[in-house]
Amino acid sequence: MRGRIEGKSIVLPELDPILGRILRADHVLWIACGTAYHACVYGQMVLNSLVPINSTAIPASEFRYGNYYVDKNTLCIFVSQSGETADTLAAIKRAKSSGAATIAVANVLGSSLTRIADATVYTCAGLEIAVASTKAYTAQLTLIYLLAQKLAEIMGYSTREHDEIITYLNELDRLTQETIDIAKPVIREYASMLKNEHDVYFIGRQLDYVSAMEGALKLKEISYIHADAYYAGELKHGPIALIQDQTVVIAFATQPEVASKTISNIKETVARGAKIILITDQNTPAEGFTYVIRIPEIRPDLACIISAVIFQFLAYYAASDRGCDIDKPRNLAKSVTVE
Ligand code: G6P
Repeated sequence: MRGRIEGKSIVLPELDPILGRILRADHVLWIACGTAYHACVYGQMVLNSLVPINSTAIPASEFRYGNYYVDKNTLCIFVSQSGETADTLAAIKRAKSSGAATIAVANVLGSSLTRIADATVYTCAGLEIAVASTKAYTAQLTLIYLLAQKLAEIMGYSTREHDEIITYLNELDRLTQETIDIAKPVIREYASMLKNEHDVYFIGRQLDYVSAMEGALKLKEISYIHADAYYAGELKHGPIALIQDQTVVIAFATQPEVASKTISNIKETVARGAKIILITDQNTPAEGFTYVIRIPEIRPDLACIISAVIFQFLAYYAASDRGCDIDKPRNLAKSVTVE
């Protein structure tokens, strides 16, 4: 965020060359692969909460061959740590050839994606060495949040919550550190429950679903435990058949508007014998749950950033307990430059 917030303003001068095209946009597509795609789903949801135009996240590998409508009034945002992912590069070329305005959210300076995009905003997360995306992801979420606020402002939709947003953004590093300090020993203990598991299920609603998807990806990537993410409300339409005695379910309930609904879904799994690790806010009642991590008080739309730190440590300790090579998981590459 350094240099991106001045006083009460979010500053992204990188967008200046395409201000007119942003103003004209009548729909927004967020396109990426892997973890960066999950960050796109976050972008989709945050932007949808701010402006009354459609915003949709699409995996780059689908976009490049799919029938998605793109024209000169489409704003396409491409998110990539490396800026070299083959599917993402093919996707931006396709978007540009259809006349879309393009923004790259990238980490690596001067990477291919940034050379093709009409405008680039850098995540500035520094060099990320481990294959699994960690700080690149939290930096993507943070920058995407700023970008969504800025796009809404440019498009003429101001929010009454602006001052509160700036206050919490300025507190984000302190709240993240506080989470690490308080939650790390607990996460270490909870991760040991995963050591011998074959299957773990992650659930959440709304923005918590983004955490469920990325939490499941992180766990399977580095610990090789099979992990799936489901919308909490979709459990009863199939996945609940998988819940047996002692199945581990990792549930996120940080969004006050739907937390009670998620808690009801969790109880349905408890009734089938599930063991729950619950990540929730300060206020959601969690009686009857043994393994609970409460995130510090924060705006619900920023909670994903704090939740990420928790599930990244959970995956890290689970992988460490299983003796996995955390920095270099099997079969995976940091940058996928071929299709
Ligand atoms: C690979 C990496 C993932 C990453 C994805 C997209 O699969 O292992 O961690 O999320 O590529 O990479 P990008 O550099 O485009 O963000």
